[in-house]
Amino acid sequence: MAEVKNTTKTYTLNTGDKIPAIGLGTWQSAPGQVDKAVQDALRAGYRHIDTALAYGNEKEVGQGIASSGVPRDEIFLTTKLDNTWHKRVQEGIDSSLKSLGVDYVDLYLMHWPSSTDPADTGKHLEGWNFVDTWREMQKLVGTGKVKNIGVSNFGIKNLEILLNDPSCKIVPAVNQIELHPGNPSPKLVEYCRSKGIHPSAYSPLGSSNSPLYSNDTIAQIAKDKGKTPQQVLLAWGLQKGWSVLPKSVTKDRIIANFEMDWSLTDEELSKIDSIPDRFKVCGDSWLPIKVFFGDDE
Ligand SMILES: NC(=O)c1ccc[n+]([C@@H]2O[C@H](COP(=O)([O-])OP(=O)(O)OC[C@H]3O[C@@H](n4cnc5c(N)ncnc54)[C@H](OP(=O)(O)O)[C@@H]3O)[C@@H](O)[C@H]2O)c1
Repeated sequence: MAEVKNTTKTYTLNTGDKIPAIGLGTWQSAPGQVDKAVQDALRAGYRHIDTALAYGNEKEVGQGIASSGVPRDEIFLTTKLDNTWHKRVQEGIDSSLKSLGVDYVDLYLMHWPSSTDPADTGKHLEGWNFVDTWREMQKLVGTGKVKNIGVSNFGIKNLEILLNDPSCKIVPAVNQIELHPGNPSPKLVEYCRSKGIHPSAYSPLGSSNSPLYSNDTIAQIAKDKGKTPQQVLLAWGLQKGWSVLPKSVTKDRIIANFEMDWSLTDEELSKIDSIPDRFKVCGDSWLPIKVFFGDDE
């Protein structure tokens, strides 16, 4: 059997750049914990870190990168434009670069297809939408501040609107979306692939207090393989062909989540595919507009 090398595996984006298959997530990583988590991850071999302006931890993520001793050019760093910054894309990237203490990010994502009024976060920004935001984000390409641009939380409906707009000259390199066995989104993944957009999995473990850890199918496969349920969930995502962004601030978990040079059998994969329970970690009820339309997001 061919050797499985998930820890050095990359996916080639539509720009030709390569995104490492496993990245460290940092949402809800508390202040005082992220710097160390990033260092632990980079020392364990991770070369991909995911943050966002909205997480409020870019500064600490940057400190972790700087203290790790791993050269910046070996790290794939992603951050995201916050909803209240849609009309201020140039300012948004400058703010993130400053906080992170870096000259560029490898991937800059529109966090949500929702432009929120900064003066009233309960309101949609009048006369503006994500197509306008993307028009502005496209201007960042070639400035040296971003290597790739992409989107997040886009379902098929919003991707169609974006891609069909005449102002859309650059196809997003990535769509970062919720993907785990409770929200596998096969139609959306297939749609992304058909357009050359790499799907990247957020909440790949099912997020905090994940019900997947106690799922019988996952638990049995983990037992049979001598792996943890979390490792089984990550292997499933990697074998589906997307990048996975497990978050942890716990050193032994960070290390375990990167011990991934092995694979599930086709039978094990199809058992996980057959888990019927559906759940979603990130909805859109907190946004001023609807962004999910039940079309398999
Ligand atoms: N684009 C978006 O809108 C969006 C939305 C959500 C998430 N994300 C990104 O995706 C990343 C991952 O998603 P997520 O943070 O929601 O959840 P996740 O990675 O699916 O799960 C994180 C949770 O699992 C725990 N955990 C991690 N490894 C474990 C292990 N080996 N054993 C037991 N528990 C373990 C963590 O605890 P400890 O940390 O306490 O160890 C944490 O509570 C985020 O951090 C963020 O970077 C993006």
